[in-house]
Parts: sequence; structure tokens; C-alpha cells
Amino acid sequence: MNNAAHIEIAYITAAVLFCFGIKMLSSPKTARKGNLVSAFGMLLAVGATLLYKGLDLRWIGVGMALGGIGGVLAARLVQMTAMPQMVAVFNGFGGAASLLVAWSEYHIRHPERMGLMPIAVAATVIIGAVTFTGSMIAYAKLAERIPSRPILFPHQHPINAALGITAVGCTAVFLMSPASHYALFLFVMLTALVLGVLLVIPIGGADMPVVICLLNSYSGLAAAAAGFVILNNVLIVSGALVGASGIILTRIMCKAMNRSLANVLFGGFGALRQGKKGYHGEARSLSVEDAYYLLEAARSVVFVPGYGMAAAQAQHVVRELGELLESNGAEVKYCIHPVAGRMPGHMNVLLAEANVPYEKLVEPPDVNPIMDTVDVAVVIGANDVVNPAARDEPSSPLYGMPIIEVDRARTCVVIKRSLNPGFAGVDNPLFFKPNTRMLFGDAKQVVSSLVAEFKEAT
Ligand code: TAP
Repeated sequence: MNNAAHIEIAYITAAVLFCFGIKMLSSPKTARKGNLVSAFGMLLAVGATLLYKGLDLRWIGVGMALGGIGGVLAARLVQMTAMPQMVAVFNGFGGAASLLVAWSEYHIRHPERMGLMPIAVAATVIIGAVTFTGSMIAYAKLAERIPSRPILFPHQHPINAALGITAVGCTAVFLMSPASHYALFLFVMLTALVLGVLLVIPIGGADMPVVICLLNSYSGLAAAAAGFVILNNVLIVSGALVGASGIILTRIMCKAMNRSLANVLFGGFGALRQGKKGYHGEARSLSVEDAYYLLEAARSVVFVPGYGMAAAQAQHVVRELGELLESNGAEVKYCIHPVAGRMPGHMNVLLAEANVPYEKLVEPPDVNPIMDTVDVAVVIGANDVVNPAARDEPSSPLYGMPIIEVDRARTCVVIKRSLNPGFAGVDNPLFFKPNTRMLFGDAKQVVSSLVAEFKEAT
């Protein structure tokens, strides 16, 4: 068997490992192993690629060293709350890498002898460029380097459509004679870079996670197209897997917010921030001591974590409180909304890190039907995902988003620092319901005080 055959066998093995790894990621129990299996597949693919004859290993070494250092630093230094921004940057770099591969390939091979390859080159450049600038804007919005609200301007959609049509038209002309149209090639690239910016700026920060998943899918498509450019099978397979899983996740998230993808991309959601609704009634607060008595008497408790738990890093004390409640005889569950926090699986990751057993994590459809039988629902730094306006008020921007119906529990305790709205900027009538009690303060401090009350009593 020759060298090329060995490389292809390693590639097929790597592709199989990717598929198994992704399958294992679908359950929290096997996710860690799945990550390792996929990482091993990637190691195999990279190792096999290095066996190609004629590679300049010095430059590859420099690239790997720089990328490796960047990766280690990001893994060590980036805060959990800043993960979505980091994913956006990584997607963008993926798109840029594919673009650069196609661009250099255009120069290395004579375009007239490339057969159908210019089609793959053009596809890689367009998708890679849109992914790169779109992801950079998503990063800037999430990191609040630019305003996270939708930035709208007159005739936005027609301008974007005109740019898209221009890019496609110029690509068609480029493909007729790729060698003599280098300037057009550069123009298409520039148009796609601008399009990436214009497509993402009208989308509000609250919708950025969906956009990031979509851009993740694009980065996969760009990589798959780059695989056709350099005729690399494992790049085609892994790109296609990223493209498909990104689009599946995008669909899941749209469904969780009850929005269509078109509405997310073109709806300008959140451009007009809802003013004070002036909900009637009074928000009733309670002290830590009162909350302790309430919880001490409860037989069933549901924790509903949200972004505030992540911001306060309260997951460890929440797990401790859960254990104390259980040893006091209560049944404890953690109900996780699919878009709670700031990234898919955000709450699952934090609670797993705090060693909350997987079987205690439930989803809204498991708890909503029995919510009337729950003694106390404890909302920990969540807001939008428990906003009853999403269910009851057709005029609310959140209307139609499935929520965790904590307002139907016998008592609902909301732990947060103020009555301020959450990410979507929409006021929350939950705070004014007769069975709601506000427990004001930083989530970690408040839950630690509750833990201390329980410990003191035993
Ligand atoms: P949010 O609606 O954003 O509410 C979080 C609440 O946490 C805030 O109202 C804030 O109130 C409170 N908070 C912040 N720091 C706190 C602290 N240290 N201690 C206690 N409370 C604190 O969160 P959610 O309910 O998790 O909903 C998520 C929202 O983000 C949705 O609109 C979703 O669409 C969007 N989003 C989701 C994702 C994904 S994929 N999960 C990504 C990006 C955006 P105070 O200021 O009064 O404390």
C-alpha cells in the first residue's frame, strides 16, 4: 500500500471518529468522551496530512505553534460568560482560513487548468468572507464593543439583496475566464466581506447566539468547499458535519424562541426597546431568613437558573443548597430553558461543572405540566425565560417564546439584584404576581446566605 492509501485510510477513520464523537455529544453523560473521541479523530487527520510529500513543515510548525498558543491562552483566560464571543471569533477565523486557502490555491495552480475548481474557489471565498466579517460583528456585539441593539438603516434589505446579486453576477463572469479576471475575483471577495457586516449589524444582541450557530454552519460549508479546492476528503467530510450540525442547532434554537430563522435574520428584533409597561401591583420582597423558612417547609423545589447565575458564578452554592434541601426531605429539580444564559447548553455546562447529577436536570416540558404542584420555584438570575408576557401578551416582543411557567408554582422566589429587564429588554410581569417574592441581591451572595441559614439550623 502506498503513502496516499495510508493517508486516505487515516482520513476515513478520522471521519468515523467525528461521527461517533458528535453522536456522543448529544447526551451530557457521554459528552466529555465524545469531545475526546472527536479530538483524537482530528489529531489523526492532522497527523495523516503531515505525511503528504512536499510540505514545508517549517511554516506548518510556525502556524501550529501560534494556533496552539492562542488556543491554550483562550482556554485558560476566557471567562465562561465570554464563551459565545470566543466561539464567534473561532468561527470567523475558520471562515478566514478557508478563504485564504482558496485564494492561495488560485495563485498556486493556473486557473485555466483547474477544471471545475474555480467554482469551489469562488464558493469558498464568498462563504468564507461572509463568515469572517459576520462573525467579527457578532463578536463585537456580544463583547459590547459596538452597540448590541439592531442597527437599521433605510433600504437595508434592497441594498443587501443588490450586493448579493452583484456578487453572484460577478462570480458568473469570473468563472467564464478565471485567469483573466483576477480583479473581479478580488471585487467578489470585497463584496462578500461587506455583505457579512451588513447581514449581521441589523440583528440584535439577543439573537446573536442563533446567528453564531448559523455562522458556525457557514464556516463548515466554507471548509467543505475548501476541501474540494485542495481535494482533501477529511476536510470535505468535517466541513459538511460542521455545516449540518450548525444548521440543526440553529433550528433548535429558533424553535426554543418560537421564531422563524427569517424573523431572526431580517426582523430587527429588539430595535425598538419596549418602554416601561407599568405593570400594576407591587413587587413584594422577602429577606433571606424568610426565604429560608419558605424553603425549609417546601417538599418540592424547582431551581430555574439563568444568565445571572453564570454572571455571579453561583452554580456551586446552588448545588450545595439543592443538597441541603434534599437532606431536608424535599424533591429538587433543576429546570433548564434551551436559551437560558448566553450560549446553547450554558446552564448545563455550569451545573455539570458543579457536579449536579444529570438526572436532576429537566426541561420545561417536563416541569410545566406539573408546575401547580411545585411548592417553591426558585429563579436564580433568570428573567426572559420565565417572563409570562411571552405566553399572555400578544403585543410583547417575546410573545410565543416557550417559557418555564414559574408563575404557576405555589410560590415563586426570584433572586436578582433589581427589577431591571433581562437581555431582551422586556419588562417582566412575573415580579408583580401575588405569589412571587423578590429576593434582591447578587445570586452567589444570596444563595450562600441561604446555605448558611440551613447549616446553622442543623
Ligand atoms: P436574562 O433574561 O438576560 O436575565 C438575566 C438576569 O440576571 C437579569 O435580569 C439580571 O437582573 C440578573 N443578573 C445579572 N447578574 C446577576 C447577579 N450577579 N446576581 C443575580 N442576578 C443577576 O437571562 P435568561 O433568563 O437566562 O434569558 C436569556 C436571554 O438571553 C434570552 O433573551 C435569550 O434569548 C438571550 N440569549 C440567549 C443565549 C443562549 S443560546 N442561551 C445567548 C445570548 C442571548 P439584575 O440586573 O436585576 O440582577
